[in-house]
Amino acid sequence: MLQDKVAVIYGAGGSIGGAVARAFAREGAKVFLTGRRRASVDAVAEEIVSAGGSAEAAEVDALDEQAVDEHLDSVIDSAGRVDISFNAVGIPNAKILGVPLIELDVEHFSLPIASYATSYFLTARLAARRMVANKSGVIMTVTALHSRMGLQLVGGYGPAMAAKEALTRDLSAELAPQGIRVVGLRPQGMPETRTIKEAFEPRAKASGMTWEQWQEVLASRTHPRRLMTLEEMTNMAVFLASDRASGVTGTIVNLTMGSLDD
Ligand SMILES: NC(=O)c1ccc[n+]([C@@H]2O[C@H](COP(=O)([O-])OP(=O)(O)OC[C@H]3O[C@@H](n4cnc5c(N)ncnc54)[C@H](OP(=O)(O)O)[C@@H]3O)[C@@H](O)[C@H]2O)c1
Repeated sequence: MLQDKVAVIYGAGGSIGGAVARAFAREGAKVFLTGRRRASVDAVAEEIVSAGGSAEAAEVDALDEQAVDEHLDSVIDSAGRVDISFNAVGIPNAKILGVPLIELDVEHFSLPIASYATSYFLTARLAARRMVANKSGVIMTVTALHSRMGLQLVGGYGPAMAAKEALTRDLSAELAPQGIRVVGLRPQGMPETRTIKEAFEPRAKASGMTWEQWQEVLASRTHPRRLMTLEEMTNMAVFLASDRASGVTGTIVNLTMGSLDD
């Protein structure tokens, strides 16, 4: 579905970024993987290449405008264009989650809002500047149900996700007339990812539940009474990145399986 498409993935050493990179490569895309720390990105790239795919890895801080810009120049030099930009960056959770709002300091409240929105803005804007020349491209990101649901102890994470979803719509409004689609994915927490386990296992324990019981509680809120897998999420990412989704832009696909009504 993505034969010969050129995709740049930010946060490609993470659970979602890595899974999306593998799925895009399996569908024929040339993937350019970036992350803050080189080792985890290299590992994903090596796996893709060993499976017969095309992948290159680079250390790029997705909050550093110059680094993102220079990397995109190198992608254009090597592959001639950029078709897909996927921002899967995840800001580490330390002191962002788990603190009641009345006790949270301004710095930790603002950190996720500024970091997520700025990184997405930068990577989207710099990719769009290249995509405009071809009048084609897809800009993508991932958010969470916190964007639309009141939840406890999530600090500035909900406002950060809401900001990314608003930016998705605004980018699309400006870029779609130039052939560039902008779409997001909003999955339910996927327990097979390290992030979700790290964020929720201690909270499960604190409320007297095992990790398995906690997952059952989350699953009970979905219509099929189970949580989404990474593979199901990446299947949707592949479709949205492909030309088959040419009619989809300016929206965030709700992958919460009924936990959150549209
Ligand atoms: N996991 C889920 O089930 C789930 C569900 C819904 C939404 N989400 C959202 O999806 C996003 C990714 O989640 P994830 O589970 O894949 O997280 P993850 O495994 O922690 O991956 C995040 C990646 O982003 C990288 N990163 C952080 N800051 C960066 C920067 N400035 N520049 C470049 N790379 C940077 C990290 O690299 P380092 O390790 O080198 O810092 C890491 O590889 C997050 O926004 C998360 O909130 C996740």
